[in-house]
Amino acid sequence: MAEVQIYRGLKDVYFDKSAASFIDGSIGKLLYRGYSIHDLAEKSTFEETVYLLLYGKLPTRSELDAFESHFRASRPVPDAILKVIELTQKAHPMDVLRTAVSAMAAYDPEAEDKSVEATLRKGVRLTAQAATIVAAHDRIRKGLKPVPPSNRLSHAANFLYMLFGKEPDPEEAKLLDVDFILHAEHGSNASAFAARVAASTLSDVHSAVTAGIGVLKGPWHGGAAEAVMTMVHEIGTPEKAEAYAHKLIESGGKVMGFGHRVYKAEDPRARHLRDRSKWLGEKKGQPQWFQLLRYLEDNVMAKYRPRGIFVNVDFYAGSIYYLLGIPEDIFISIFAMGRVPGWALQVMEQYRDNILIRPLLQYGGPMDVEYVPIEKRGAPAPPVGAER
Ligand code: COA
Repeated sequence: MAEVQIYRGLKDVYFDKSAASFIDGSIGKLLYRGYSIHDLAEKSTFEETVYLLLYGKLPTRSELDAFESHFRASRPVPDAILKVIELTQKAHPMDVLRTAVSAMAAYDPEAEDKSVEATLRKGVRLTAQAATIVAAHDRIRKGLKPVPPSNRLSHAANFLYMLFGKEPDPEEAKLLDVDFILHAEHGSNASAFAARVAASTLSDVHSAVTAGIGVLKGPWHGGAAEAVMTMVHEIGTPEKAEAYAHKLIESGGKVMGFGHRVYKAEDPRARHLRDRSKWLGEKKGQPQWFQLLRYLEDNVMAKYRPRGIFVNVDFYAGSIYYLLGIPEDIFISIFAMGRVPGWALQVMEQYRDNILIRPLLQYGGPMDVEYVPIEKRGAPAPPVGAER
């Protein structure tokens, strides 16, 4: 067999061009549509960022007003979807979100329209509705009635309102708004790649977003924020952090919230959440979570920086969600809610100039094995893949 170059995990492989985001992992630089993530985090809103991503430019005041009112009007989900949520309520929130988004196709009049315009409209609808689904699920599983979306509130404020049944503190809502901005798009991450693979077969946007949600769920991708808080609870106090991390790394484990496939410098999104985690911890009278995280970053994990292992976006995110009172198993769903516009945008890009994404695997098994009839196979062989 001819020797081939294998790029395991498609590490460092470019497979297409994109105008969605620019990442320079060596210096920790991230741009959405050319705009610095720092400017967007400090000066924009999630709604404006969604507009920027999907339409490719910053809106004028009247464009943003029109977009926001359309976005807000898109929030309700059909009663049938609430029924689906009721039926699946015991599952993990990401499973419920994935199932509900998939089911939404049955109620979307444009479900099969693959035009870029219809995809954009569906991207807006799904971005708005993902928040409604996540909040409704949490209420339903607690035996509470879902809170209908409010037309007066921003996306982030409305999510907290639907989750807790009361209007949130505006500063806390703004903090979640920033978090959504930071998660909105991120190049060819695993979930966006999955969405693009789905789109490359000319499948529909609901299928692509459903694939994205399924891929995001894993602890090496979106699951890290939840895993960080689990780790923080396990560690308990800063004095125990060094031994905990040492034991974990020695046994081949990874410290959650550190490391990144692309960033070999600090993830530029982390700084916005670091500052806000500190602020929120002090505001809530619970500074200990930030203190422990900061200790881990500066005193325990600093020695891994020369190897390119820095905090990523998830490291401080979990503490913020926790302090906002959001249940820990919803943390990944928060990431998903922010990421829907990124997935939709990449599906639009894929449709615009489609090529089937279909890489190769080098075969590494036996060749030309003789087929033995079943009655002549003798003692049962161990199942395929079992240890021999
Ligand atoms: N803790 C300890 N060591 C880590 C690490 C972490 N969080 N992340 C990477 N490393 C080490 C690896 O063990 C590997 O060491 P080796 O060269 O001795 O084998 C080296 O750094 C390179 O890492 P690698 O696993 O090849 O990087 P990757 O690009 O395949 O993986 C992640 C990137 C994100 C999957 C990985 O860093 C990780 O699992 N991080 C924790 C989960 C997380 O926070 N995910 C959210 C990402 S936004």
